[in-house]
Amino acid sequence: MADLQPDNPYAPDRFPDPNKHVEFPEEAKKRFDWILTRYPTKEAALLPTLHLAQEVWGWISPEVVHYVGNLLDLSPATVFGVVSFYNMYNQKPVGKYHLQVCTNLSCMVTRAYDIYDHLCEKLSVHPGGTTKDGLYTVVEVECLGSCGTAPVVQVNNDYHESMDVVKMDALLEILK
Ligand code: FES
Repeated sequence: MADLQPDNPYAPDRFPDPNKHVEFPEEAKKRFDWILTRYPTKEAALLPTLHLAQEVWGWISPEVVHYVGNLLDLSPATVFGVVSFYNMYNQKPVGKYHLQVCTNLSCMVTRAYDIYDHLCEKLSVHPGGTTKDGLYTVVEVECLGSCGTAPVVQVNNDYHESMDVVKMDALLEILK
């Protein structure tokens, strides 16, 4: 069973580094401008803007929280509240392959923890950790909304359904 203790929200690495400047590259700025045209208010554009930021940087760092807040006239607390609420936003850097094992009820009773524990052991990572080569991050997540095909493992943006340990090993071979 995984360690469910969340990271300390007041840890020093949760605060922005004043020496780090983040700014969307030109192409992302254009997409951000387009996103704004699609929503009635700036606040309503928060989720897609965070998606864009994650696409650019791979995770939502404290600096990005502040940057996005400035873009949308929102407080860092509001932005961080959203980032920390949703599984889909990475609060830490992740590996090339982000292995997200759903361990909610339907997946748990169909042996999701077998897969999760196997991944942690096989890849020698702690729950939520990233392999030393930066290739894989293994995390457990809440319901992925595909309970009828449990257990489900999301790898980056793709769902892998009705998984088991053997199928997971086969998938890892492909992902290498
Ligand atoms: S419980 Fe795993 S997808 Fe819903």
